[in-house]
Amino acid sequence: MSHRLSAPAAADPPGEQQALLLAWFETSRRDLPWRRSRDPWAVLVSELMLQQTQVARVAPKFLAFLERFPDVGSCAAADLAEVVTLWAGLGYNRRARNLHQCASVVVERHGGVFPDELDALLALPGVGPYTARAVLAFAFERDVGVIDANAARVLARWQARPLKRREAQELADAAVPPGHGWSWNQAMLDLGATVCTARNPSCGSCAVAATCGWARDGRPGPDPSVGTFGVSGRQSRFADSDRQGRGRLVDALRSGPVTGPDLAAAMGWPADPQRAERVAVTLVADGLVRCSASGVWHLA
Ligand code: ADE
Repeated sequence: MSHRLSAPAAADPPGEQQALLLAWFETSRRDLPWRRSRDPWAVLVSELMLQQTQVARVAPKFLAFLERFPDVGSCAAADLAEVVTLWAGLGYNRRARNLHQCASVVVERHGGVFPDELDALLALPGVGPYTARAVLAFAFERDVGVIDANAARVLARWQARPLKRREAQELADAAVPPGHGWSWNQAMLDLGATVCTARNPSCGSCAVAATCGWARDGRPGPDPSVGTFGVSGRQSRFADSDRQGRGRLVDALRSGPVTGPDLAAAMGWPADPQRAERVAVTLVADGLVRCSASGVWHLA
């Protein structure tokens, strides 16, 4: 077995198809604010925000968040309530709590310096395989494959069959041209977001259509991305969901406390105080909300 003793050259020459995708990325890349940084804190903030929220909505929030919390220490030192308040408009407030906890752990366990090993990143609160690899690739420029729903869809279509988790990760890792981890993964995300879209993919303008098994076969149904690991199914209905009530309560609490009698109305269920109480308690369990002894609700 041979070991590479010296650091790899800045970038090994990529294969022909890989070069096509990288060249496409250079000319078509989206100018997104988090792409101008290699700071792991900024990358983590962006990736958590992007997990369930669209790019256009994230961009201004990302900039405002980093203005207030330019580094991990400033966030760790802040109250969770302030972090949740800055999260307004992004939804899924648990991510704000995770980010705040993550900041505390990086400060306490790692002296404020982000770990650059997969296992140490995975041990951070709320950091799963996607986020850990995104930090490795986008902050530390490592050659690991990052699989979000977009990249998973691209990989499955290239293979012309649905992929399970382990296989998708192996393919994603193997596809990275050595030395190009940052741009390759960003290119995969952009390809999935703008060309290899879930519905009506633009195969005619795809730089790498020649490598795509599904396009080569004439795009037979079912789409191989359906059922592939990481490719989400339909989101469950939001209207009248518990999630909607949770979001409404956190929105109300960003402006100030809510008294017990106002809870149900704040959650949008004025005729169902039992449901309001039951769902509000889940926010307490998540550490986002607290209820004082006198029955007044606050951000935690
Ligand atoms: N979605 C998740 N991460 C992203 C990134 N770095 N750029 C664009 N979209 C993304």
